Amino acid sequence: MGQLVVETTELTKRYNGFTAVNSLNLKIEEGEMFGFLGANGAGKTTTLLMLLGLTEPTSGTVRVCGMDPTRDARDVKRQVGYLPERVGFYEDLTARQNLQFTANLNHMRRTEAEEKIDAVLGTVGLARVKDQNVGTFSKGMKQRLGIADILVKEPRLAFLDEPTTGIDPNGIDDILKLISGMGKRGITVIFCSHILPQVQRLCSRVGIMSKGNLVADGAIDRLGREVVAAGKFRIEAELEGVGPDVIAAVRGVKGVHEVDAIESTLIIAAESDLRGQISRAIIESGALLLGMKVEEYDLETIFKRYSSEA
Ligand SMILES: Nc1ncnc2c1ncn2[C@@H]1O[C@H](COP(=O)(O)OP(=O)(O)O)[C@@H](O)[C@H]1O
Ligand SMILES: [Mg+2]
Repeated sequence: MGQLVVETTELTKRYNGFTAVNSLNLKIEEGEMFGFLGANGAGKTTTLLMLLGLTEPTSGTVRVCGMDPTRDARDVKRQVGYLPERVGFYEDLTARQNLQFTANLNHMRRTEAEEKIDAVLGTVGLARVKDQNVGTFSKGMKQRLGIADILVKEPRLAFLDEPTTGIDPNGIDDILKLISGMGKRGITVIFCSHILPQVQRLCSRVGIMSKGNLVADGAIDRLGREVVAAGKFRIEAELEGVGPDVIAAVRGVKGVHEVDAIESTLIIAAESDLRGQISRAIIESGALLLGMKVEEYDLETIFKRYSSEA
């Protein structure tokens, strides 16, 4: 296991008796791209605010890079880049001036900062408009500037809260690529979202929040396997024709639990991905194999199942 950069223990936030986050136990390792999922109101933003020391937990503990954000908020903020749901920039300053402001806050040397700001504005596709006031920017441009702001800082972690809200499809693609680039630079990312395909594209591990509770936490494929049926893989084999011989042959493969035929497709339940052994058995039985696929776990199925349990 790598180094833990985020660790919460029984972390709880109540607002006037209403529990927004309930006994959250979360561990995130350095370098992870963690998808933090949940419907609106699930408690994602509240969790981020506690991780940043921007709101105080009602009970429980938080560690970010080994520090306690309720006591060392400034040190934590130095390690973390944060893109809030609504990015706030000085509208009457240019893109470049806004980033210079960030660089000053982070005590960067002026010449070093200027080089980096230019490079980063290029990365996020704002080089042409860097001397325009941010007040003239679209939502997508401001969001890209928010990502530039994080990149200037070169933090160890980045907390991104619904970074694609209100952005057109092309813009979304740009932003997802930039986030993926953060991961490649070794930044640990927490990507909060309720948009499942975006999370599935970027993250291998997810946590699902529902009504303040973390109802699932793990690798998408593992959660998927648990949902599909404890430990069962569903494999489909398309044949030119199905006869009793081929069904018997596939049933004979060790690890295969069930075989059903629907027209010329075999639906196979197996304890693991046995495509190799199954295709050999099919061919040896004399049947013609046209194609085979293993069921992919989609995040939507996982999400629905766990959210409804909460
Ligand atoms: N400052 C606040 N005062 C009272 N209730 C709040 C406050 N902030 C958030 N909440 C409530 O806490 C719950 C979780 O909110 P939030 O963390 O923003 O969810 P998410 O980011 O997952 O949409 C919601 O029901 C919200 O209304
Ligand atoms: Mg939120």
